[in-house]
Amino acid sequence: MKILAIESSCDETAAAIIEDGRKILSNVIDSQVETHAKYGGVVPEVASRGHMQVIVRVTEQALKDANMTSEELDAIAATCAPGLIGALLVGANFAKSMAYALKKPFIPVHHIRGHIAANYLAFEDLKPPFLTLVASGGHSMMVLVKDYTEFEILGGTRDDAAGEAFDKVARVLGVGYPGGPKIDKMAQGGDASKYKLPHSKVKDAPLDFSFSGLKTAVINLAHNAEQKGETIDKSALAAAFCNAVVDTLVPRLELAQKQTGVKNIVCAGGVAANSWLRKELEDMAKKNKLNLYLPPLSLCGDNAAMIASQAYYEFKAGNTGNTLQNAFATAEIYENICVKK
Ligand code: KG4
Ligand code: ZN
Repeated sequence: MKILAIESSCDETAAAIIEDGRKILSNVIDSQVETHAKYGGVVPEVASRGHMQVIVRVTEQALKDANMTSEELDAIAATCAPGLIGALLVGANFAKSMAYALKKPFIPVHHIRGHIAANYLAFEDLKPPFLTLVASGGHSMMVLVKDYTEFEILGGTRDDAAGEAFDKVARVLGVGYPGGPKIDKMAQGGDASKYKLPHSKVKDAPLDFSFSGLKTAVINLAHNAEQKGETIDKSALAAAFCNAVVDTLVPRLELAQKQTGVKNIVCAGGVAANSWLRKELEDMAKKNKLNLYLPPLSLCGDNAAMIASQAYYEFKAGNTGNTLQNAFATAEIYENICVKK
């Protein structure tokens, strides 16, 4: 089964064609990152307009790369939640209209389910159940993937997502948007012990965590130094920050693994590209004799290949959309986002 998927939940316009959920036939990503970098973050209306402008070209390129015509597709999918609503509406409506014109099924996909599915493209042996640490720009949580379309949240952030914290700290350190990759690079070789940063705990909720205290600590440290006319060792501060984030996430995943006894552990989302996180996860998996699945860097960030992969399993579970399908700015990973009536 060949599915074309469209992803437009934030600032990437993407189209991909995937066969049977696992084989990439094409994967096109048009990033608006340079446009938004000028503003220090994503400007929603600018993102929506950007999607509208390039979506046809991106889709045509995906068909061309797969050497296919649209008539040869078996279904069309799109990210329908969660994300920037204007941005989602562009991709979802484009894909729904395409499915309508071609008389093919339309498959709405949850963006975070897609991030998890990125791992199906890289690891053909990976099958649920498994435990996933989701760390993206908008979400951070521990998810038990019971089946391809069945999810249980075991814990998560009480405030900022991990990627959001990276982006805010990057802004304070003056390295611009998107912050994650820049902080990761800046932290290389930095002395993580030079600055003491808080490693948060949430009372009576051992699998939950918070990043706002950590973020505030970095902001205060930078401002105090500025007021005193001192120079900050940015590399050391970035290293201490990466260390604190990793030390918040990895032990909780370890605890969730002990509680569930699930041997396969997976990481998903943009922050899964972080080199500190990848290293710590590898060490933790080795120590506990677990099978660790880390998506290749090319599939960590937003892409449509992951959406098409998840779409295949949604289709098999009967989760197709009708003509009333809508897009939603928020939706929990365990919710079925198909409009029922
Ligand atoms: O999953 P994603 O592409 O988009 C959302 O669904 O939110 O995640 C984007 C986030 C951004 O906050 C970005 O700064 C972060 O992932 N990110 C990283 C790295 N690469 C991307 N954070 C830390 N280290 C990285 N290497
Ligand atoms: Zn994403």
